Amino acid sequence: MSYSIPKGVFDLFPTTGKVEDEWKLTHHWQHLYEEMRSLSKKYGFEEIVTPIFEKTELFARSIGQETDVVSKEMYTFQDKGKRSLTLRPEGTASVIRTLVERKLYNEMYCHKLFYLGPMFRYERPQAGRYRQFYQFGAEVIGLDSPEQDVELIDLLFTLFQNLGLHNLTVYINSIGNAQCRKNYREALVQFLTPQKNKLSEESQRRLEINPLRILDSKNKEDQKIIANAPTILDFLEEDSKLHFEAVQSLLRIFKIPFKVNTQLVRGLDYYNRTVFEIACGDLGAQDTVAAGGRYDSLVKTLGGPDLPAVGFALGIERLLQIMLAQKCSFKPRPVPLILLIPLGELAKEVCFKLLKQLRVHDISAEMDFSSKKLKHIMKYADKKGFPYISIIGEEELQNEQIKLKHMTTGKEQVILLDQLVLTLINQIQNGI
Ligand code: HAM
Repeated sequence: MSYSIPKGVFDLFPTTGKVEDEWKLTHHWQHLYEEMRSLSKKYGFEEIVTPIFEKTELFARSIGQETDVVSKEMYTFQDKGKRSLTLRPEGTASVIRTLVERKLYNEMYCHKLFYLGPMFRYERPQAGRYRQFYQFGAEVIGLDSPEQDVELIDLLFTLFQNLGLHNLTVYINSIGNAQCRKNYREALVQFLTPQKNKLSEESQRRLEINPLRILDSKNKEDQKIIANAPTILDFLEEDSKLHFEAVQSLLRIFKIPFKVNTQLVRGLDYYNRTVFEIACGDLGAQDTVAAGGRYDSLVKTLGGPDLPAVGFALGIERLLQIMLAQKCSFKPRPVPLILLIPLGELAKEVCFKLLKQLRVHDISAEMDFSSKKLKHIMKYADKKGFPYISIIGEEELQNEQIKLKHMTTGKEQVILLDQLVLTLINQIQNGI
């Protein structure tokens, strides 16, 4: 019996010999998590952690029964108490559920929250599309100003800039309020119905249940037809129009380049007014790296007060894959500063105490416990990339002097045994 990883999921690990697996290196993920956490804090966001699974009806109610996510892609199961639970396909619904359940809205007029973690969708796996994938998301509840929409887009854009990314396009659109969408839906159905037979099978199905989603179709024939369809911007009511104009002028002030894409409708039902996506040409078919928008009625739908909200989520795998394709720089893999290699029982005892002392002084260190042949230990030191090693045997103990070897230059420095901590602290201060 051999065990292998299920389809559509992946491991993260500290090393890999394969270029195609480089995006799965744990320290790259840590690097991104650190950047995301520190930038979110700079923008006043606080971290929220919600469970991996929720009651199924939460997602059905918020994302929408007719959406692909709810109708085809959810990992739904019954627990032993016969409750229907679902692995979260996204983070927004859970954040709003927490806010409403805990009545957090009574504490202050606005909440700015961010999250990092795995989401689950039963999709056809391919590069950039997985069944367990990770999102960095941010949600603001309580504010309906266009500044808030732009602050979120700016957070994403600044994150991408800080990470060294280029070749990104910000697409924005407004899908107005429920009435605008109803009017537009009617106009769209009227436009598409006479051409129904030319539409793809999927779009014909959507024409009945969710015609706006036809605008998203990747089918070439569909796209030709859609190109002449009426645009939603002509159906916006005055407030949505003003809001959308303000969003655009604020983006210009922030010098964030954007394109209005009137076919951008998003695949989740909770949106209204501003919707946006950030795409990267380097990513191939799955080129949307982050997406979001306003969802001003979700808090109420889930039993809370009438509070506006807006947010985004970013796909971490996709972001990492673009960064690697664009040769962005990453923080190096963190490795301990020194490997102590004792030779003999007495040296083992001395080194073990020294090891503790180093760590107490905040110096990351390891010691060889294997007593394997030196060539094996040296291979380990080399592979893991220790900057320093020190081999400590009887002679070193007698003279109370050790050799500190710098692994890249090969240079050796003789120091007093009891000076090791101090010497390494100095090395750290002066750059290794
Ligand atoms: P979404 O567009 O479904 O929006 O997902 C956001 C991002 O998650 C996508 O742009 C993509 O980068 C990534 N993503 C989605 N599905 C997969 C997958 N199967 N494999 C890899 N990456 C994937 C949401 O999830 C909304 N909750 C965003 C939001 C937050 N809107 C308001 N607040």
